[in-house]
Amino acid sequence: MNIRRARIEDLPGMQACNLRNLPENYSMKYYLYHCVTWPSVSYVAEVQGRIVGYILAKMEEEIKEGEQPHGHVTSISVLRSYRRLGIAKKLMLQSQESMATIYRASHVSLHVRKSNRAALSLYRDTLGFEVQGIEQKYYADGEDAYSMRLMLKHE
Ligand code: ACO
Repeated sequence: MNIRRARIEDLPGMQACNLRNLPENYSMKYYLYHCVTWPSVSYVAEVQGRIVGYILAKMEEEIKEGEQPHGHVTSISVLRSYRRLGIAKKLMLQSQESMATIYRASHVSLHVRKSNRAALSLYRDTLGFEVQGIEQKYYADGEDAYSMRLMLKHE
């Protein structure tokens, strides 16, 4: 198992992993945009050349006056047979570290379905994210999202 920064040649594998795991899917152009614009905050978990997990992340583009830069997790998933091995936790921590050290991000944000118990447990219980609010009907099928945030530590 190798966890490393995502490269452009990883994008098809990340997209394949996403398509297997989540109903929220993205165009290759969107993956490419992340990878080219913020090359250091997206990571992959690779086993024998296959992408088995990924985190697709970015820095928030619209910062209001007086706001600190902050990161955002667009999508994270791990293939079913590789779950509960700590992969998602490692991917999140690597990305957070890069957001804090490279971009001086004050915090990281994300959205998660209210019904997604596994992801909620990862974010809240394992990583210490807090719920900021509920975004009604955030998802295409009408489900609400929790909007979550974690303040990042700086040395
Ligand atoms: N039930 C309860 N708690 C869980 C579960 C679960 N099924 N999975 C993970 N956790 C919690 C546990 O506290 C776990 O620690 P432990 O194993 O020591 O108890 C901790 O999270 C860390 O788990 P990891 O092994 O790092 O998580 P994993 O690699 O299995 O990936 C993930 C978790 C990404 C949520 C995976 O289940 C998945 O791919 N699900 C489908 C896709 C998905 O829902 N992605 C998140 C969407 S939201 C977004 O992308 C911003």
